[in-house]
Amino acid sequence: MDTAPAAAAAAAAAAGGVCVCTYVFAVIGVVCSAYVALSCLRFVCRLVKVYALSRPLHLYADLSKMGSWAVVTGATDGIGKQYALQLAEQGLNIVLIGRSPEKLKATESEVRMRSNVQVKTVVVDYSGGREIYDDVERELAGLEIGVLVNNVGMGYAWIFDEFLDVERDVHLRMLNVNMMSCVAMTFIVLPQVSKGGGWGGGGMRGRGEWRRVEDRGRDGGMGK
Ligand SMILES: NC(=O)c1ccc[n+]([C@@H]2O[C@H](COP(=O)([O-])OP(=O)(O)OC[C@H]3O[C@@H](n4cnc5c(N)ncnc54)[C@H](OP(=O)(O)O)[C@@H]3O)[C@@H](O)[C@H]2O)c1
Repeated sequence: MDTAPAAAAAAAAAAGGVCVCTYVFAVIGVVCSAYVALSCLRFVCRLVKVYALSRPLHLYADLSKMGSWAVVTGATDGIGKQYALQLAEQGLNIVLIGRSPEKLKATESEVRMRSNVQVKTVVVDYSGGREIYDDVERELAGLEIGVLVNNVGMGYAWIFDEFLDVERDVHLRMLNVNMMSCVAMTFIVLPQVSKGGGWGGGGMRGRGEWRRVEDRGRDGGMGK
Protein backbone atom coordinates (compact mmCIF):
# COMPACT_ATOMS: atom_id res chain seq x y z
CA MET A 1 0.00 0.00 0.00
CA ASP A 2 1.24 3.46 -0.85
CA THR A 3 1.77 5.41 2.39
CA ALA A 4 3.00 8.61 0.69
CA PRO A 5 -0.35 10.48 0.59
CA ALA A 6 -0.97 9.76 4.30
CA ALA A 7 2.51 10.97 5.23
CA ALA A 8 2.02 14.09 3.14
CA ALA A 9 -1.30 14.76 4.86
CA ALA A 10 0.28 14.29 8.30
CA ALA A 11 3.12 16.66 7.38
CA ALA A 12 0.62 19.26 6.16
CA ALA A 13 -1.36 18.98 9.42
CA ALA A 14 1.84 19.34 11.47
CA ALA A 15 2.86 22.31 9.38
CA GLY A 16 -0.57 23.85 10.03
CA GLY A 17 -0.04 23.42 13.82
CA VAL A 18 3.37 25.12 13.67
CA CYS A 19 1.83 27.96 11.72
CA VAL A 20 -0.78 28.61 14.43
CA CYS A 21 1.86 28.65 17.19
CA THR A 22 4.06 30.93 15.19
CA TYR A 23 1.13 33.20 14.56
CA VAL A 24 0.25 33.36 18.28
CA PHE A 25 3.85 34.09 19.31
CA ALA A 26 4.17 36.69 16.57
CA VAL A 27 1.09 38.51 17.86
CA ILE A 28 2.42 38.42 21.45
CA GLY A 29 5.77 39.73 20.19
CA VAL A 30 4.16 42.55 18.25
CA VAL A 31 2.00 43.58 21.24
CA CYS A 32 4.99 43.53 23.64
CA SER A 33 7.21 45.43 21.21
CA ALA A 34 4.50 48.01 20.63
CA TYR A 35 4.07 48.42 24.40
CA VAL A 36 7.81 48.91 24.96
CA ALA A 37 8.08 51.27 21.98
CA LEU A 38 5.12 53.36 23.20
CA SER A 39 6.53 53.50 26.73
CA CYS A 40 9.89 54.71 25.39
CA LEU A 41 8.15 57.27 23.20
CA ARG A 42 6.11 58.53 26.16
CA PHE A 43 9.28 58.79 28.25
CA VAL A 44 11.07 60.76 25.53
CA CYS A 45 8.03 63.05 25.09
CA ARG A 46 8.02 63.74 28.85
CA LEU A 47 11.74 64.54 28.77
CA VAL A 48 11.24 66.94 25.86
CA LYS A 49 8.24 68.55 27.58
CA VAL A 50 9.97 68.97 30.95
CA TYR A 51 13.47 69.92 29.83
CA ALA A 52 12.93 71.62 26.46
CA LEU A 53 9.40 72.97 26.19
CA SER A 54 8.31 73.83 29.72
CA ARG A 55 10.13 77.15 29.86
CA PRO A 56 9.40 78.55 26.40
CA LEU A 57 5.76 77.42 26.57
CA HIS A 58 5.31 78.39 30.25
CA LEU A 59 4.02 74.94 31.16
CA TYR A 60 5.23 75.25 34.77
CA ALA A 61 3.83 77.19 37.71
CA ASP A 62 5.52 80.57 38.02
CA LEU A 63 6.75 80.21 41.59
CA SER A 64 7.98 83.78 41.80
CA LYS A 65 4.34 84.92 41.72
CA MET A 66 3.59 82.99 44.90
CA GLY A 67 5.83 85.07 47.10
CA SER A 68 9.21 86.63 46.61
CA TRP A 69 11.14 84.35 48.99
CA ALA A 70 11.80 80.60 49.11
CA VAL A 71 13.07 78.92 52.27
CA VAL A 72 15.21 75.80 51.91
CA THR A 73 16.32 73.73 54.90
CA GLY A 74 19.51 71.69 54.57
CA ALA A 75 20.45 73.93 51.68
CA THR A 76 24.23 73.50 51.65
CA ASP A 77 24.46 70.14 49.93
CA GLY A 78 22.75 67.62 47.68
CA ILE A 79 19.07 68.01 46.91
CA GLY A 80 18.55 71.09 49.11
CA LYS A 81 21.36 72.97 47.37
CA GLN A 82 19.90 72.13 43.97
CA TYR A 83 16.49 73.39 45.11
CA ALA A 84 18.12 76.63 46.24
CA LEU A 85 20.03 77.12 42.98
CA GLN A 86 17.06 76.34 40.77
CA LEU A 87 14.51 78.36 42.73
CA ALA A 88 16.94 81.29 42.56
CA GLU A 89 17.17 80.76 38.79
CA GLN A 90 13.38 81.17 38.71
CA GLY A 91 13.81 84.57 40.35
CA LEU A 92 12.98 83.77 43.97
CA ASN A 93 15.03 85.28 46.78
CA ILE A 94 16.43 82.47 48.88
CA VAL A 95 16.77 81.78 52.59
CA LEU A 96 19.46 79.13 52.97
CA ILE A 97 19.27 77.23 56.24
CA GLY A 98 22.02 74.91 57.42
CA ARG A 99 24.27 74.19 60.35
CA SER A 100 27.68 75.06 58.88
CA PRO A 101 28.44 78.80 58.45
CA GLU A 102 31.26 78.00 55.99
CA LYS A 103 29.08 75.82 53.77
CA LEU A 104 26.29 78.39 53.93
CA LYS A 105 28.72 81.07 52.79
CA ALA A 106 29.94 78.91 49.92
CA THR A 107 26.36 78.12 48.82
CA GLU A 108 25.39 81.77 49.12
CA SER A 109 28.26 82.72 46.78
CA GLU A 110 27.22 80.06 44.30
CA VAL A 111 23.59 81.27 44.28
CA ARG A 112 24.69 84.90 43.86
CA MET A 113 27.08 83.94 41.05
CA ARG A 114 24.31 82.20 39.10
CA SER A 115 21.30 84.41 39.86
CA ASN A 116 20.59 88.01 40.60
CA VAL A 117 18.49 87.48 43.75
CA GLN A 118 18.70 88.32 47.43
CA VAL A 119 20.13 85.62 49.66
CA LYS A 120 19.82 85.29 53.41
CA THR A 121 21.52 82.61 55.49
CA VAL A 122 20.39 81.18 58.80
CA VAL A 123 22.62 78.94 60.89
CA VAL A 124 20.61 76.28 62.69
CA ASP A 125 21.34 72.77 63.86
CA TYR A 126 18.01 70.98 63.45
CA SER A 127 19.09 68.18 65.77
CA GLY A 128 18.27 70.59 68.59
CA GLY A 129 14.88 70.74 70.27
CA ARG A 130 12.05 73.25 70.48
CA GLU A 131 14.39 76.06 71.57
CA ILE A 132 16.10 76.45 68.17
CA TYR A 133 12.94 77.67 66.43
CA ASP A 134 12.62 81.07 68.11
CA ASP A 135 15.72 82.25 66.25
CA VAL A 136 14.47 80.83 62.95
CA GLU A 137 11.13 82.57 63.44
CA ARG A 138 12.88 85.88 64.12
CA GLU A 139 15.05 85.52 61.00
CA LEU A 140 12.06 84.78 58.76
CA ALA A 141 9.77 87.44 60.18
CA GLY A 142 8.48 89.90 57.61
CA LEU A 143 9.61 87.96 54.53
CA GLU A 144 7.03 87.34 51.84
CA ILE A 145 7.52 83.58 51.63
CA GLY A 146 5.95 81.62 48.76
CA VAL A 147 7.85 78.35 48.94
CA LEU A 148 9.12 76.21 51.80
CA VAL A 149 11.33 73.22 51.02
CA ASN A 150 11.48 71.02 54.11
CA ASN A 151 14.50 69.16 52.81
CA VAL A 152 16.80 68.67 55.79
CA GLY A 153 17.23 65.05 56.84
CA MET A 154 19.66 62.55 58.28
CA GLY A 155 19.99 58.79 58.45
CA TYR A 156 22.25 56.31 60.20
CA ALA A 157 25.95 57.03 59.75
CA TRP A 158 26.44 53.50 58.44
CA ILE A 159 23.65 52.11 56.24
CA PHE A 160 23.97 48.58 57.62
CA ASP A 161 23.50 49.73 61.22
CA GLU A 162 20.57 48.16 62.97
CA PHE A 163 18.27 49.93 65.42
CA LEU A 164 20.11 48.88 68.58
CA ASP A 165 23.54 49.59 67.08
CA VAL A 166 22.66 53.27 67.12
CA GLU A 167 22.67 55.20 70.38
CA ARG A 168 19.42 56.47 71.79
CA ASP A 169 20.55 60.10 71.55
CA VAL A 170 21.24 59.68 67.85
CA HIS A 171 17.70 58.35 67.34
CA LEU A 172 16.31 61.35 69.20
CA ARG A 173 18.41 63.78 67.17
CA MET A 174 17.22 62.05 64.02
CA LEU A 175 13.61 62.55 65.09
CA ASN A 176 14.32 66.23 65.58
CA VAL A 177 16.00 66.62 62.19
CA ASN A 178 13.64 64.47 60.13
CA MET A 179 10.30 65.16 61.78
CA MET A 180 10.24 68.05 64.21
CA SER A 181 11.90 70.32 61.64
CA CYS A 182 9.07 69.70 59.14
CA VAL A 183 6.32 70.41 61.64
CA ALA A 184 8.00 73.40 63.27
CA MET A 185 9.13 75.02 60.01
CA THR A 186 5.64 74.60 58.56
CA PHE A 187 4.14 76.24 61.62
CA ILE A 188 6.51 79.18 61.26
CA VAL A 189 6.14 79.62 57.52
CA LEU A 190 2.54 78.57 56.83
CA PRO A 191 0.84 81.77 58.04
CA GLN A 192 3.04 83.80 55.67
CA VAL A 193 2.56 81.35 52.80
CA SER A 194 -1.21 81.38 53.35
CA LYS A 195 -1.26 85.14 53.00
CA GLY A 196 0.58 84.95 49.70
CA GLY A 197 -1.24 81.84 48.42
CA GLY A 198 1.96 79.92 47.74
CA TRP A 199 2.87 76.31 48.28
CA GLY A 200 5.53 74.35 50.04
CA GLY A 201 7.37 71.08 49.76
CA GLY A 202 6.76 68.81 52.72
CA GLY A 203 3.14 68.13 51.97
CA MET A 204 1.17 69.54 54.90
CA ARG A 205 -2.24 70.92 54.25
CA GLY A 206 -3.19 73.89 56.37
CA ARG A 207 -5.97 76.37 56.14
CA GLY A 208 -6.77 78.98 53.53
CA GLU A 209 -4.96 78.86 50.25
CA TRP A 210 -2.16 76.51 51.31
CA ARG A 211 -1.82 73.77 48.75
CA ARG A 212 0.40 70.91 47.89
CA VAL A 213 1.98 71.25 44.50
CA GLU A 214 0.03 68.23 43.27
CA ASP A 215 -3.18 70.09 44.08
CA ARG A 216 -2.52 72.73 41.48
CA GLY A 217 -5.79 73.33 39.74
CA ARG A 218 -6.81 75.29 36.71
CA ASP A 219 -5.22 78.34 38.28
CA GLY A 220 -1.79 76.63 38.11
CA GLY A 221 -1.46 76.59 41.89
CA MET A 222 -1.57 80.33 42.20
CA GLY A 223 -3.72 80.21 45.29
CA LYS A 224 -7.00 82.00 44.80
N1 LIG B 1 19.89 61.41 48.33
C1 LIG B 1 18.96 60.47 48.29
O1 LIG B 1 19.07 59.48 47.57
C2 LIG B 1 17.72 60.58 49.15
C3 LIG B 1 16.76 59.59 49.08
C4 LIG B 1 15.61 59.70 49.85
C5 LIG B 1 15.43 60.79 50.66
N2 LIG B 1 16.39 61.73 50.73
C6 LIG B 1 16.15 62.86 51.61
O2 LIG B 1 16.35 64.08 50.90
C7 LIG B 1 16.93 65.03 51.78
C8 LIG B 1 18.24 65.56 51.21
O3 LIG B 1 19.08 64.47 50.94
P1 LIG B 1 20.55 64.72 50.39
O4 LIG B 1 21.03 63.42 49.88
O5 LIG B 1 20.55 65.88 49.49
O6 LIG B 1 21.32 65.02 51.75
P2 LIG B 1 22.78 65.64 51.94
O7 LIG B 1 23.50 65.73 50.64
O8 LIG B 1 23.41 64.86 53.05
O9 LIG B 1 22.47 67.10 52.43
C9 LIG B 1 21.79 67.29 53.63
C10 LIG B 1 21.73 68.77 53.93
O10 LIG B 1 21.13 68.92 55.20
C11 LIG B 1 22.05 69.58 56.07
N3 LIG B 1 21.95 69.06 57.41
C12 LIG B 1 22.16 67.80 57.82
N4 LIG B 1 21.95 67.70 59.13
C13 LIG B 1 21.61 68.95 59.56
C14 LIG B 1 21.26 69.48 60.82
N5 LIG B 1 21.26 68.74 61.93
N6 LIG B 1 20.93 70.79 60.89
C15 LIG B 1 20.94 71.57 59.80
N7 LIG B 1 21.27 71.13 58.58
C16 LIG B 1 21.59 69.81 58.46
C17 LIG B 1 23.40 69.28 55.49
O11 LIG B 1 24.32 70.21 55.98
P3 LIG B 1 25.81 69.73 56.39
O12 LIG B 1 26.51 69.72 55.10
O13 LIG B 1 26.26 70.74 57.35
O14 LIG B 1 25.68 68.34 56.95
C18 LIG B 1 23.10 69.39 54.01
O15 LIG B 1 23.02 70.73 53.62
C19 LIG B 1 17.11 64.35 53.12
O16 LIG B 1 15.99 64.65 53.92
C20 LIG B 1 17.13 62.89 52.77
O17 LIG B 1 16.67 62.09 53.83
C21 LIG B 1 17.52 61.66 49.99
